[in-house]
Amino acid sequence: MNNIHPANIYLTRSNKEQYLNQHARVIWITGLSGSGKSTLAEGLEKKLAKKGYLTQVLDGDNIRTGINNNLGFTDKDRIENIRRIAEINKLFLNCGIITINAFISPTNDIRHMAREIIGNDDFIEIFVDASFDTCAKRDPKGLYKKALAGEIKNFTGLDAPFDRPDDAEITINTDELSIEEGIEKALKFILHKVMR
Ligand code: ADX
Repeated sequence: MNNIHPANIYLTRSNKEQYLNQHARVIWITGLSGSGKSTLAEGLEKKLAKKGYLTQVLDGDNIRTGINNNLGFTDKDRIENIRRIAEINKLFLNCGIITINAFISPTNDIRHMAREIIGNDDFIEIFVDASFDTCAKRDPKGLYKKALAGEIKNFTGLDAPFDRPDDAEITINTDELSIEEGIEKALKFILHKVMR
């Protein structure tokens, strides 16, 4: 790391971005369960890693099983889920790391909250668009079947809301695009924001 002033007690975000040779950003992927958020997040991480970028994927697997394992799917719990995730993102940002988030984050209010906590300049929102019917057909975790049978309450898109984003920077329609095409489209948009 060059250019670190000896009087500085803490390394700054800028010091760390310089060290990592990247600009830290928050990539925020929103969409229905089963729309392809995690697939996109993992694909982006691999492509970015190949180009030398350091990223961290945050999704239900590492957040709802750990720090947020006391939260469910009421409106109140979803707000708290996203609030904590947004705060975690701020820590990664200050460490110079690119985060890739895959959370339903179902309403415009919730996404606006995340954008506000993180800061508009660092926030890149990607809407992974797939219809409820498509997601229900894919049903990778068998949750749609259960929800449609009334065994899961407050299920997003069924008896809990999903607002189509009103200010996503980019939309990936997984009804129309292949996985690879979706990843490439998002990558193209992201690269010039993380490149130094
Ligand atoms: S969010 O609404 O608070 O952003 P989050 O992305 O963390 O949701 O978690 C969504 C995941 O939890 C889904 O992909 C699904 O696997 C699981 N899940 C369990 N119950 C529900 C539910 N009632 N509604 C939506 N997803 C649920």
